Amino acid sequence: LKEEATEAIETVADLESLRELKVKYLGKKGELTGILRGMGKLSPEERPVIGSLANDIRGQLEELISEREASFEEKALSEKLHLEKIDVTLPGITHPVGSVHPLNLIIEQIEDIFVGMGFEVAEGPEIETDYYNFEALNFLKDHPARDMQDSFYFTPEMLLRTHTSPVQVRTLEAKEGYVPVRIICPGKVYRRDDDDATHSHQFTQIEGLVVDRGVSMSELNGVLLSFIEKIFGEGTEMRLRPSYFPFTEPSVEVDIYDPERGWIEILGAGMVHPRVLEKAGYNPERYTGFAFGMGVERIAMLKYGIEDIRHFYNNDLRFLRQFRSV
Ligand code: PHE
Repeated sequence: LKEEATEAIETVADLESLRELKVKYLGKKGELTGILRGMGKLSPEERPVIGSLANDIRGQLEELISEREASFEEKALSEKLHLEKIDVTLPGITHPVGSVHPLNLIIEQIEDIFVGMGFEVAEGPEIETDYYNFEALNFLKDHPARDMQDSFYFTPEMLLRTHTSPVQVRTLEAKEGYVPVRIICPGKVYRRDDDDATHSHQFTQIEGLVVDRGVSMSELNGVLLSFIEKIFGEGTEMRLRPSYFPFTEPSVEVDIYDPERGWIEILGAGMVHPRVLEKAGYNPERYTGFAFGMGVERIAMLKYGIEDIRHFYNNDLRFLRQFRSV
């Protein structure tokens, strides 16, 4: 029996058959166990001899079986490791990372510059009333900008804001006559234009407003010059040209000098019209202020040499990817 079992255990092909052999020889109903059970029938002299022999064999078979078990397990483990081997030299799967839109990039830069000069960032609604967009800003009833041809109206009283200047009025009202007021407001604005390289029916403006005692035109000049030097580079030349806006008096158009193209207009500005202050609850005898409004696309186009405003809105990744690390 020992020889037969040893032979079977040594040549067994897999772990499962090995376990079957274990049951066959050593299990409760196994062959060796059968021999031990039958010992009662032996003579008292034979019993210890056969008993210790059977136990010896049992021990040897158990040892052999567990050796074989261990070697099967080891083999299975090494096969598994081999199958699951990871080739660290294979190229990984790359997940494309997006980039910040150039308009948001430039808005962030402009915000940083003005925050550095003590301004706060304000916001206002894109759907405006005629009152905030025009009336409170001193546009007369028959002003051409109020024409349906120029603005997107929902009703005679509601429209998409045509500029960020209504936020001037909303800010003043919210401050309830207190000073100082020092805000900038970035946001989308809408005009009925046919889209081309320099026009877009939706574009972006940044409004600025300062109201306090003794605010003067020279402060406006200083704030704008330091902004322009920060965004276009130290030494950039700037000039103010007289202009007209219903809500500022005097009003100016601000140009910067570009070596290739000459003087280029980049924003409108002026001293806040006394009527605007008054309507918003500020005494124009005590307080003065200045305001400015710039087109963000225009600034980005000049700064980065972008030729067509439509690039900002077409979502062409070849364009957008260029602004990853500006
Ligand atoms: N709101 C004006 C425009 O859209 C710009 C402006 C803002 C001018 C503030 C003067 C003061 O053209």
